[in-house]
Amino acid sequence: MSSYPSSVKLVEVGPRDGLQSIVNIISTEEKVNYINLLSDAGMQEIEVTSFVSPKWIPQLADATDVSILINQIPDTCYTALVPNLHGLKNAVDSKYKSVAVFTTVSETFSQKNTNCSIQESFKRLNFMQPIWEESNLRVRGYISTVWHCPYEGIIQYDSILDSISKYLDLGITEISLGDTIGKATPDEVRWLLDKILAKWPPNIFALHFHDTFGSAEENIQAGLEFEISIFDGSTGGIGGCPYAEGSSGNIATEAINSLCNSLGIETGIQPEKLNIAANFIQNLVNKESRNYAKD
Ligand code: HMG
Ligand code: MG
Repeated sequence: MSSYPSSVKLVEVGPRDGLQSIVNIISTEEKVNYINLLSDAGMQEIEVTSFVSPKWIPQLADATDVSILINQIPDTCYTALVPNLHGLKNAVDSKYKSVAVFTTVSETFSQKNTNCSIQESFKRLNFMQPIWEESNLRVRGYISTVWHCPYEGIIQYDSILDSISKYLDLGITEISLGDTIGKATPDEVRWLLDKILAKWPPNIFALHFHDTFGSAEENIQAGLEFEISIFDGSTGGIGGCPYAEGSSGNIATEAINSLCNSLGIETGIQPEKLNIAANFIQNLVNKESRNYAKD
């Protein structure tokens, strides 16, 4: 068994994944305050927002304003999620140096979430590639429904390997494996990582666990056993994907941070300040979340 990494990067996705399904509209000013608190807590990377269609995700329709108004700290990487060329151009106009793209290994989820097939989602990425190269952007790539899909059940791992290869061919440098509906078990995580890490090194992967069934923390521990050193979390555990029925919030960033502290793993985060950010956003969000999958 390998030893745990000595330090990890936690990627805060609360302002995007956390807020995207929240029913009550959080004001631009409140989002900016929240993101500034996260920067102040020492997060290495913050996913600020997404430049997606406001018809699909009304909560993040103020992506441009939020991006302009936040205080950016030099040591923090600020990332925007983009679904297509339109979103990528908006992110470039908003001066992002880092973007995240997404695909999935489930055809049904692809249609529900982005109105296109998996193949079409890669065609969109092919159109985007010249722009992100020309703009010198760092690109992170999500693969959703890696373990379980709410519509198609358990996923065949060949399709996951295929998506990873395609991402790497596109020059994507960090790949976040998403347990979109929070159903993966630690054994399933170990099984898949064993297959994936037989082909690629652990330092290009992040793990993105939603915590629907309460196994996210154990899943992260399984990831640490495989020397994975990047984990996504959402302060306060808020959120979920509105197009994945049954998806609850991400694992709370403060829970990952506590786990790492207890294992002697460095995160560079100030826990008291992280708790301030978590309390701030938890007090604002209405626990009821939006689920467009049923529409
Ligand atoms: P579409 O309706 O097929 O788009 O949606 P379209 O290309 O046909 O365009 C329709 C209209 O949308 C046009 O405007 C476009 O200009 C506009 P109109 O002519 O009608 O006025 N449009 C846009 N507007 C703003 N920004 C854009 C954009 N693109 C087109 N980027 C589309 C296709 C991909 C846009 C839509 O399906 C979409 O926005 N989907 C995003 C859904 C989403 O954000 N889901 C959650 C994020 S993924 C996730 O949560 C999983 C993750 O956390 C990992 C995990 O947990 O597994 C990452
Ligand atoms: Mg997610």
